[in-house]
Amino acid sequence: MPVSLRAPDDFHVHFRQPPLLGTIVSDTARWFGRALVMPNTVPPITTADRLAAYRRDIEAAVGEGCPFEPLLTFKVVQGLADEQVRALAAAGAIGGKLYPQGVTTHSEDGVFDVASLAAVFEAMEELDLVLEIHAEAPGAFSLDREIAYLPTVEWIVRRFSHLRIVIEHVSSRDMLAALADLPPRVAATVTVHHLLLTLDDVIGGDLRPHHFCKPIAKRSADRDALCAAVLSGDPRVFFGSDSAPHPRSAKESDCGCAGIYTAPVAVPLLAEFFERAGLPLTESALPPQSACLESFVSRWGAEFYRLPLNERTITLSESQWVVPDDYDGVVPFRSGAKLRYDIATGGEA
Ligand code: NCD
Ligand code: ZN
Repeated sequence: MPVSLRAPDDFHVHFRQPPLLGTIVSDTARWFGRALVMPNTVPPITTADRLAAYRRDIEAAVGEGCPFEPLLTFKVVQGLADEQVRALAAAGAIGGKLYPQGVTTHSEDGVFDVASLAAVFEAMEELDLVLEIHAEAPGAFSLDREIAYLPTVEWIVRRFSHLRIVIEHVSSRDMLAALADLPPRVAATVTVHHLLLTLDDVIGGDLRPHHFCKPIAKRSADRDALCAAVLSGDPRVFFGSDSAPHPRSAKESDCGCAGIYTAPVAVPLLAEFFERAGLPLTESALPPQSACLESFVSRWGAEFYRLPLNERTITLSESQWVVPDDYDGVVPFRSGAKLRYDIATGGEA
């Protein structure tokens, strides 16, 4: 039976730049009502002019008549001025992304002195912008890198007492436990790949470069904790795919890039994930605050960001398809796998 749900939002996606941007955007626009677009382009989104130009590139790729809406962010870099933050907010940014220096793709210009950015965080607080944090401490051992950044996250939370913060792509049991002790203005996104992979799926047998991402998938106990948080219907834990395409040659390389391309498969994989857990896909007939796919992908994130819920719906149809090996030179997550759900036509809620 086809299932209708409110159009999902993806609160963490990488759209890259033309020419790749064209394909990437349409894979997200097909499934999602909105997506929070990461600013780690080259050069990065740090000025209102770049943000406006990037929005134009994305809108051109979305095309007339497609209801998809990009939500834009800027990159918090050393030396960013609070006036720049005001200009970026006026140009429509809804968040600023903090990458610690050197921890992931295109983060060479990342932050190494958080305290020096106090004026930026104060401006964000005043403008009600959300701070998205890639929480990994440069130099720490890879499996401990996330929790090693907790003291910095806690310092920001304490020092800027009204700032809303998202810990992006949470990947460890310890960071999830820490989230529970932080105030409700701090939330976390979870990717589909961190719900499905452990480190063994990356390096436990053959080396699987298309499973390599930052933060790296960790132990089963970490994955199980993420699954439990999502399946408990915790409204502070919502979906952000971290869909991060790289050309095949950049992944299958002596020095391969981190990032997993999940945009084309995320929603069907999540539908199967909720079903395997015996949970419903939609909110219909459920008491409020219950766990289901629709709340995880279409409600909790929008509520945290104080955005109206999407009114449009998408319909999942049970029609098996095989994930292609390649999307314009990018190998998607689960290429070659059979997925049970596909998208049918849209409509009004
Ligand atoms: C992302 C990318 O490729 O831009 N890579 C990744 O492994 N997730 C950057 C990021 O979000 O860390
Ligand atoms: Zn990312």
